[in-house]
Amino acid sequence: MKTLTITRPDDWHVHVRTGAILKTVLPHTAKQFARAIIMPNLKPPVTTVDQALLYRDEILEAVPTGLDFTPLMTLYLTAATTEAEIKKAAKSEHIHAFKLYPAGATTHSDSGVADIKAAYPLFAAMEKHQIPLLIHGEVTDEQCDIFDRERVFIDRYLVDIAKSFPALRVVLEHVTTSEAVQFVKDASSYVAATITPQHLLYNRNALFGGGIRPHYYCLPVLKREQHRLALVKAATSGNPKFFLGTDSAPHTTSMKESSCGCAGCFSAPIALELYAEAFESVNALNKLEGFASFHGADFYRLPRNSGTITLKKISWDVPSSYGDNGASITPIKANEVVSWQIQ
Ligand code: DOR
Ligand code: ZN
Repeated sequence: MKTLTITRPDDWHVHVRTGAILKTVLPHTAKQFARAIIMPNLKPPVTTVDQALLYRDEILEAVPTGLDFTPLMTLYLTAATTEAEIKKAAKSEHIHAFKLYPAGATTHSDSGVADIKAAYPLFAAMEKHQIPLLIHGEVTDEQCDIFDRERVFIDRYLVDIAKSFPALRVVLEHVTTSEAVQFVKDASSYVAATITPQHLLYNRNALFGGGIRPHYYCLPVLKREQHRLALVKAATSGNPKFFLGTDSAPHTTSMKESSCGCAGCFSAPIALELYAEAFESVNALNKLEGFASFHGADFYRLPRNSGTITLKKISWDVPSSYGDNGASITPIKANEVVSWQIQ
């Protein structure tokens, strides 16, 4: 039987929420990944070091006994963030980045940054204190076509941010377009990107296969096939600027299957399996370890993991949902077959 053994991977972008949803989803991430960058878009957002440390404790309590998992905390950047907090975050061994949400861009982004130029002094402080800036790169302009919002954000903001803060480490999160891939490739080694499994496996047709498919709806939204191909090429290229970030973003099934369904694909239970499918589709399984286990750690200046994880080529059915009635969550690929399984 075909097997694949790689160094234990990390997830450089995940949403685990709080309360009942946290308890349902966290074990899946902890089983697959040694560490994960935890997104701070809670209600209310995680904006201070003290809040992040409390949130970290709640996450650690949800780790099943016997699993060794380290949450890497981030802070939500707002117009009220101070240089003192940036300095404090940079000094904390548990805080690894700030997340910039343009106000209104996505789920729980209303506390985000409305005027990006006004945040430049904060970017300068992050550059000085050497803490990375993670960016949701979409403009929020209602007039801008939703499929163009990432490309326009790069032209309107990101080019200037990278030029103005050359020593600021920037991660363009969940890239979805060939333009984003090109921008990251052309930028300095201080600029990197995460790529989700859904953007590697699906194009925008998946949103409308035989009817509307809410569990494939996330932001940035799936794009055309030409963009998916550019993402697969980047992820499997061996270029250390591209690394694994699932953007697993659980919402209850009722919040997704609604007249105004939330954005976010819940992929945590099958994340590595999905990446293996994507890499295998272009005969690049030998590039999965760098993407999943090395590039992100190197960028964040953290040690690579020890230990390994093994995937077997076995087909199995993805459950229709996870969690109990209080927090039933439908995964991406529910009731469909995945062709790899973690041992
Ligand atoms: O689809 C998404 N869901 N995109 C985001 O940027 C946020 C995320 C969430 O928190 O649900
Ligand atoms: Zn996200």
